[in-house]
Amino acid sequence: MRKNFGAKPQMYPMPVLIIATYNADGTPNAMNAAWGCMADADKICIFVAAAHKTMENILARKGFTVSMATKEQLIPADYVGIVSGNDDPEKWVKTGWNAEKSTFVDAPLIRELPMALECEMLSYDEESEMLMGRILNVSAEENILDENGKIDVRKLDPISYDPVHHAYLTLGEKAGNAFSDGKKLK
Ligand SMILES: Cc1cc2nc3c(=O)[nH]c(=O)nc-3n(C[C@H](O)[C@H](O)[C@H](O)COP(=O)(O)O)c2cc1C
Repeated sequence: MRKNFGAKPQMYPMPVLIIATYNADGTPNAMNAAWGCMADADKICIFVAAAHKTMENILARKGFTVSMATKEQLIPADYVGIVSGNDDPEKWVKTGWNAEKSTFVDAPLIRELPMALECEMLSYDEESEMLMGRILNVSAEENILDENGKIDVRKLDPISYDPVHHAYLTLGEKAGNAFSDGKKLK
């Protein structure tokens, strides 16, 4: 028997994306976003409420970075999801994070979050609140790379959002090989 839960914003797995932008005065801001996904080979789509400081900043500068929240940085990652830069001018300072300017877009990278997508704004629809961005670069700190120089998700240790229990989860074990294991049924 299936149980029906009605129309709810629930799916698995959901990411924990940290969108970083510059305020009008050049100070950094960041917010937490779970409603985001790849939209094409070089595009990202995130639903960002028009009232957020982040959206005001992206519309002004046309650039943003999207870092993967990590288990190590869970507390500031959650904090930027519950306090708005519109309400607290000290929001960024309280995260304890350090910003450095992206060389690809007019937005900050967060030093404490070792992997980020550097994106230019392509479009924003005020009605659906859908932000589309083009990924100009993916960058990662060397200490999360494997012996082949690729991003090692174990070293990154990203967290996932559980929308049913409002919890953050870490990833489980490797379950298989994509574009490969299904060949057994060909
Ligand atoms: C787990 C989590 C996921 C969130 N996902 C989104 C999202 O996908 N889109 C959105 O507009 N707000 C989302 N929020 C809310 C914003 O992060 C929050 O309103 C934040 O304070 C906005 O900051 P700003 O006004 O400084 O930009 C989420 C918050 C949390 C804690």
